[in-house]
Amino acid sequence: MIRIIGWRVKTSRPPRRQTLVTMQELTIRRPDDWHLHLRDGDGLRAVLPFSARRFARAMVMPNLNPPVTTTAAAIAYRQRIVDALPAGADFTPLMTLYLTDSTTPEEIERAAACGAIAGCKLYPAGATTHSDAGVTDIRRLDATLERMSERGLPLQVHGEVTAADVDIFEREARFIDEVLIPLRRRSPQLRVVFEHVTTRAAVEYVCDAPAGIAATITPQHLLLNRNALFQGGLRPHLFCLPVLKRESDRQALLAVITRGDRRFFLGTDSAPHPRTAKESACGCAGIFSAHAAIELYAEIFEQAGMLPRLEDFAASFGADFYGLPRNRGTLTLERREWVPPPSYPFGSGELVPLRAGERVAWGLRA
Ligand code: NCD
Ligand code: ZN
Repeated sequence: MIRIIGWRVKTSRPPRRQTLVTMQELTIRRPDDWHLHLRDGDGLRAVLPFSARRFARAMVMPNLNPPVTTTAAAIAYRQRIVDALPAGADFTPLMTLYLTDSTTPEEIERAAACGAIAGCKLYPAGATTHSDAGVTDIRRLDATLERMSERGLPLQVHGEVTAADVDIFEREARFIDEVLIPLRRRSPQLRVVFEHVTTRAAVEYVCDAPAGIAATITPQHLLLNRNALFQGGLRPHLFCLPVLKRESDRQALLAVITRGDRRFFLGTDSAPHPRTAKESACGCAGIFSAHAAIELYAEIFEQAGMLPRLEDFAASFGADFYGLPRNRGTLTLERREWVPPPSYPFGSGELVPLRAGERVAWGLRA
């Protein structure tokens, strides 16, 4: 249903003050964000409107503090999200359960039966923000994973090993060999989403792997390589996990989405933190991109000369993988430069967004 309206020429009147305004519009099926951190309380209220304005649905990550480890907690969190929506918003939160060493098959049963939970998230313990309660050894969860595959609940993985002696740039590749391949051998029916893939190794693995696996890709890993982290000095607002990788990895991500591979779809991993927590001697991982998410993906596809492929990546492949209907509404983007502010309010603090003070090539139609 993609519609690219070419260069529309508008002429203002009277003719003596004639100006030519060129505008390019792009209307796509309303997209979904398959990996999103919404936080809670005041933080939730601050960031939710950005996602609800752009996306019809989002897969909401469970790494609150304490984490969302039970069906009851996920349902309560879902209600807090719904209550925080701006009036008239059309947005459905899809909930996830945070797996721990003690998540039982019975909990999976409850999650599958409640109808609000769309997947279970594997955080290897210590891999990222609020992952301390995560799984220390996935082999202990075989019965739980078995129940997930029986009940059709996908496993969403943060795919990095955590051993301190593994180089941070190798953690994703090592996860594939040491965790993911053995896991998929033990549970071949389990559907898996390899979240926020960042490397050529991950792209190749997903492309060659047995069916039943897909991957999300963030805007930052498509736009930037690791040099950006150190451009002119240390850039804490570009630090996320998995960390940005080398240019050849970025090129592999770009190649797979622009060829329209249906196993790869949009997941922003937008992860807000207060400015003070980012600009710190030990700054937290996470990039906030919800304020310009679909706009940045449009820029990425446009730069690659593949704008017509945006819609499937953003609005079709993810829904298809999760077995959910594609959205019926549309979203219209305009080729109109704008500059995100230096910060947005975020609870009692503020939040520095991706591209703060720099141009974004696409905007939403008002
Ligand atoms: C995420 C967060 O802040 O919750 N941070 C990040 O760098 N992506 C956690 C995560 O998804 O790893
Ligand atoms: Zn995340």
